[in-house]
Amino acid sequence: MPIKYIPYDKTPVKGQALLNNITRSQRVLSYKDNDKVYERIQRGIPYYELNEIESVGESSDNLVIRGECLSACAYLKENDIKIDLVYIDPPFASGADYAKKVYIRKNPKLADKIKKAEEKMEMDELIAFEEKMYGDIWSKEDYLNWMYENLMAIKEVMSDRASIYVHLDWHIGHYVKILMDEVFGEENFINDIVWCYSGGGISKKALPRKHDNIFFYTKKSKEPHTSSLFFPPMKQYSQTGSGRRSDGSKYNLEDETPQNDWWIDIPTENTQSKTNTGYATQKPEALLQRIIKTSSTENMVVCDFFGGSGVTAKVANDLGRKFIHCDIGINSIQTARDRLKEVNASFKILEVQDGLNLFRNPIQTMDKLSSMIDGLNTARAVGINSFWFGTIINSKYGTIPVYIPDLRDSTKKVLDIVAINEIINKEIHNFDNFNGEIKKVVIYYVDIVDKEEIERFIKDNNQTIIDVELKDLKSVLDFVVVDDIVNFSLDEEKIFYEVTINSFYSDRLKQKIDEYNSKRLLTSKGKVIDISKDGLELIEYISLDSTNDNGIWKSDSEIKIDKNGYISIDGKKTKEFWNGIITSTAKPKRLKIRNIAGDEIIQNFLILRNRN
Ligand SMILES: C[S@@+](CC[C@H](N)C(=O)[O-])C[C@H]1O[C@@H](n2cnc3c(N)ncnc32)[C@H](O)[C@@H]1O
Repeated sequence: MPIKYIPYDKTPVKGQALLNNITRSQRVLSYKDNDKVYERIQRGIPYYELNEIESVGESSDNLVIRGECLSACAYLKENDIKIDLVYIDPPFASGADYAKKVYIRKNPKLADKIKKAEEKMEMDELIAFEEKMYGDIWSKEDYLNWMYENLMAIKEVMSDRASIYVHLDWHIGHYVKILMDEVFGEENFINDIVWCYSGGGISKKALPRKHDNIFFYTKKSKEPHTSSLFFPPMKQYSQTGSGRRSDGSKYNLEDETPQNDWWIDIPTENTQSKTNTGYATQKPEALLQRIIKTSSTENMVVCDFFGGSGVTAKVANDLGRKFIHCDIGINSIQTARDRLKEVNASFKILEVQDGLNLFRNPIQTMDKLSSMIDGLNTARAVGINSFWFGTIINSKYGTIPVYIPDLRDSTKKVLDIVAINEIINKEIHNFDNFNGEIKKVVIYYVDIVDKEEIERFIKDNNQTIIDVELKDLKSVLDFVVVDDIVNFSLDEEKIFYEVTINSFYSDRLKQKIDEYNSKRLLTSKGKVIDISKDGLELIEYISLDSTNDNGIWKSDSEIKIDKNGYISIDGKKTKEFWNGIITSTAKPKRLKIRNIAGDEIIQNFLILRNRN
């Protein structure tokens, strides 16, 4: 359960057009009881506890938050932290799932051989499989409801001088513009920036769609401070710098301020560029430089609630701003963390304790769940609509429709009277014409407001013969995650403490690779992935904590292995391969290992002998 709900400021902005087919999460339930109409529940922003899990660099106010945008807003609001500039690049409702390539690293035990061979060989032999990072398939109504709630929550934590940039495209952008007018007020609309780019595929049906829209609003356009920020003095582009315009001429991004609202001179991030992190949908640093310089000054707080690869935080840090990065996916948190570590940034990593131990990210959790619930068939039976996640066939009850809340959508996570009312008064009535064949439904919840009260509500209001069973989804999730296993040894006799990783085993990766291999074999497409006995090629990152033996992680020594096998030591890139060892000057208390898909385990050095 959230600790509490923080109310939204619902002061309406008068005279705005409204999108009539979305309910807007401020849901008021009206229901009849003995001919009396009751109204109840107006949810606010759910506030959950946050745990600090890591501290990087000096003590600092910069934050990296793993959790949903809404939870981050609740935390900021509760702690009175105000944002001066928000940039968000949320899912675009593009109808696609985004995946990340997971690269098998080089096995340290073979590294020497590889090095020699590589002198002759090109580095194109990388072996990889894909992992889903986030899903972007929505109905328009669901998306707009969700976005409305996010925008309302974000507005709550914007300072009076703050600006917001919302980056979208043709899929849903124009609807969100109307929503933003409603939330922020038309008079606070500054511009619709059109970012034009080239590259990518070309549609045969339409004129090529080669621009994104970035809606730029301020919280209060009449604040004197904000207006001087978004109308900065014009400067000329210098022709000597590092960027390249589409006409081939060069300019210096450092010196620029925008001169128009159509930006044609910022190329998209490409996989060859130095800044590329491999995170799908990564935006270029130049874009964020322009936005951050336009609407903030040094020491202001810049926040990205859908932070992805960490581009906003990285550029904000480069430009002397404070930053907050938030994202729901573990890969985002790790990518941003490592990227910020490389530039010596200081920050804390916080994790929202929302009761849902997400497996890497919501979409992978949903995928896992479908295989974890006994007998669940997600192919929808005739007449069972998309509200239901799937069905279970049971000898006593026959077909049992199963509801699982969409974990990507925070408005669906908590089972409250509003939600159950919808289920018993609408969804299960759809089964009226099943001739009594549906006798039971199962409703999974992640979080429940008051189970007894909800059960009472069902008893009093369910006018069908269908049984409604409530089940806690977390009990299923507990079985989803099986920790990786590492075997390591510590040598204290050298000048440094030397930890050797002897072997590594990941059940989760094994399953993934087996799945990949069997598909490969079926389609007889190329090589299968062959993992060595010691499994060291499945490791992406190793860290030693010599400061704390529990609680907040402090990385006193770390090695990251990139997809080509080259290592960074404490954030500094090298041209070395990993040798299976990590050293530290101080006696290590804990060891952390991250596998190539982002799962992490922490082991204590319980067996350490005292040096003296
Ligand atoms: C388009 S990507 C952002 C890319 C980012 N601008 C960059 O340059 O790397 C959208 C991100 O939103 C995250 N996301 C999706 N739903 C979220 C939510 N409710 N709260 C926070 N992050 C979310 C996804 O994990 C994904 O990383």
